[in-house]
Amino acid sequence: MDTGLDVDLANLDLPAEQMQAMGEDVLARIVAHLRGLPGAPICGDFTGIEDLCRSLREGEPESGASLDSLLAPLFADWVPRSFGTPGPGYLAYIPGGGVYPAALASFIADAVNRYTGIWQAAPALVQLEANTLEWLRDWMQFPTSARGLYTPGGSMAMFNAIASAREQRLGTDIRAGTLYVSSQSHHCIIKAARLAGIAHDRVRVIEVDAQYRMRLDALCAAIDADRAAGLKPFMVFSNAGTTNTGAVDPLDAVADLAEREGLWHHVDGAYGGFFHMVPELRHLLSGLSRADSLTLDPHKGLFLPYGTGALLVRDGEALRHLHSSSAGYLPANQSEFYDPAQYGPDLSRGFPGLRVWLTLKFFGAARYRAALAEKRALAVWAAEEISRIPGIVMDAWPDLSLFAFHLEGAALDTLEKQNAATRALMQNVTARGQIMMTGAQVGERFLGRVCVLSFRARQAQMDACVEQLRQEAARLLCSE
Ligand SMILES: Cc1ncc(COP(=O)(O)O)c(C=O)c1O
Repeated sequence: MDTGLDVDLANLDLPAEQMQAMGEDVLARIVAHLRGLPGAPICGDFTGIEDLCRSLREGEPESGASLDSLLAPLFADWVPRSFGTPGPGYLAYIPGGGVYPAALASFIADAVNRYTGIWQAAPALVQLEANTLEWLRDWMQFPTSARGLYTPGGSMAMFNAIASAREQRLGTDIRAGTLYVSSQSHHCIIKAARLAGIAHDRVRVIEVDAQYRMRLDALCAAIDADRAAGLKPFMVFSNAGTTNTGAVDPLDAVADLAEREGLWHHVDGAYGGFFHMVPELRHLLSGLSRADSLTLDPHKGLFLPYGTGALLVRDGEALRHLHSSSAGYLPANQSEFYDPAQYGPDLSRGFPGLRVWLTLKFFGAARYRAALAEKRALAVWAAEEISRIPGIVMDAWPDLSLFAFHLEGAALDTLEKQNAATRALMQNVTARGQIMMTGAQVGERFLGRVCVLSFRARQAQMDACVEQLRQEAARLLCSE
């Protein structure tokens, strides 16, 4: 048939030898990149970054280019000019992961590109994903009735949790519902609430105590006030490790209160939830397993690549009720097997479960437990050492693997000066290139913070962190 079309141009498939060569090229670059991480500057060079970004603006490419011409600047110029999130010295924010088997799993999932939205399209693959959700459920000691889903991250896990709670507790009476977070809760919750139809005037921000934990008396008072005003308190969020200081809220007490008041209790375990996998550390998160729903971020505590969040919901039917739908062009829904589109908003989707399955099966859970226990031990050790540095005042000891502090000195006689010095301390250590740390403005005070969750962070990095903080703190106090 002669259609007049250019059939060579229309063919997007590649010969086997070319695919092999392209794969080898990418693999060689990746391995070289990963091998270079320990020596690479931990915070990329951002000089002239705006000009670089402007120069990168481009129109559509009409013709193709060689892979080499695309990969060369990517690896040489663009990837390095970013935060060194996978680097061993990354103690900033909440470190993400990037374990190698997970990268291979993502490649496999994209290359085989099977459809995992509905069970019937890839039953065995969906079963692997279901297995991993059951592992999460068991590590968190949720009941077998619980169900979950993978999301792009913690933020979308919150969204699905709020939508599930709203649907079950409020039905169509959405405007009556009020939701409670602490002043230290992650800002993504308020955003997720807005997306789920709970406007800002129905979100109550509860004060924290001196350890940055939600105050139960303030929570009770807020609930009472809302009831008195004719509103319907329906959901409370507690933290299994806050982003600012790592604080773990009194999860058991919040669970008691939620039970008493008939509220849906969601625990944000995006940062800290996976410490529950380690039996010896479980007591630090006592009450977590009583939650109605739980955010987990495998791209943090399971050291997986960004794009891997998860939600567990105790009453699996509540999650299914929210998401279940059917269409005449699709197979009928079944209920024996886990079915992603029945438990989450996506229909066509990638295959996030393979990342979790392949990595967990490759390493085994024991190595994960060891790694998590090590991160906690390193944080406890570093906090002790750092607390002894002259001028350092601890604001939050590690409940898990994150702690916060600030700098004081004779000449730092105002809060403003202490804040400026603490900020400079974070920046000066980071500028040395080996350790990256960030702080957080918490109320009036700027806190320095260290979060140990990079799987590549080991004792050597903690030694460097302590020593560099010691030197930079001395320098700052000297120059006051
Ligand atoms: C405690 C906590 N909750 C929620 C989030 C949001 O998760 P994500 O960035 O995966 O959307 C974060 C992110 O750092 C976090 O630390």
